[in-house]
Amino acid sequence: MRLDKFVCKSTDLTKSNAVQRIHDSDVLVNGVAVVNESAQVHENNRITLNGQLLTPRPFRYLMIHKPANTICSNVDEAYPSLFTGLDIERTSELHVAGRLDADTTGLVLVTDDGRWSFDIIRPTQHCKKIYVVGLSRTIAEDQVNNLIEQFATGLQLQGEANLTRPALLEVISDKQARLTITEGKFHQVKRMFAAVGFKVVKLHREKIGDVLLNVEMGDWRYLTEAEVGSFKGEP
Ligand code: URA
Repeated sequence: MRLDKFVCKSTDLTKSNAVQRIHDSDVLVNGVAVVNESAQVHENNRITLNGQLLTPRPFRYLMIHKPANTICSNVDEAYPSLFTGLDIERTSELHVAGRLDADTTGLVLVTDDGRWSFDIIRPTQHCKKIYVVGLSRTIAEDQVNNLIEQFATGLQLQGEANLTRPALLEVISDKQARLTITEGKFHQVKRMFAAVGFKVVKLHREKIGDVLLNVEMGDWRYLTEAEVGSFKGEP
C-alpha cells in the first residue's frame, strides 16, 4: 500500500495532511524518514508518526442491497450514491466490487480492500454472478431450448472481439429468466439479451460467488469471515 494511504488508514488525517506530514519527515518507515508519499509500504513495516506507532484500521467488507435509481459511486451524480444515508463511517474510502447500472437492483459488495475486490472482478477469476432478468416481451415456449443453447455456447456482443463465456439461462416464466454469468463486461446482461432480440426491463443481482443477498432493499450488513474468504481463487 502507498505510504500516504497507510497514514490515512491509521489516523484521522486527510490525504493532503498526511502528505504534508510525510514531506515534513514526520513519518518514519523502519526508523528512516521517507518523504515520498507514493512509496510502497507493507503492514509488517514499523511506521511511526512523530514517534507514535501507526496501525491501520482493519479492512471492511459488506453487502448492500442496492435500490433502483442509485449509483455505485461514492459521490452523488445524476442519481444519489448508493452510500448516501448509510450509517457507515468514512464512505469515501469504500469502493464497489462490480458495479450495477443505476436502474439495476440487488447485491453489491463493498470494501476498502483493493486486493480483495480485484480478486472478485479480475476477468481470469470467472466469478459467478446470478441475475434475475425481466423482459419486455414473452419468450415463446418453442424458443426456450434454442435460447438456452445460445447463451451456453456464447453470444457475439457488439464491439467485442470474442464470444461471451458460457452462461446458464433458466427460464422462470414467460417474461422472466435467471442468468448466471462469469464475466463483468459493461452492461453485459442487457447486451446479451439484446444480442438475441430481447429488451431487459428489470434487472436484479441475487448472488456473487457464494455470497447470497439476504438483506432488505436499502439495508446492508458486514460479510462473515467465511464470505470474505470465499473469493480466494487462482493466483
Ligand atoms: N449487466 C447489466 O447489463 N447491467 C448491470 O447492472 C449488471 C450486469
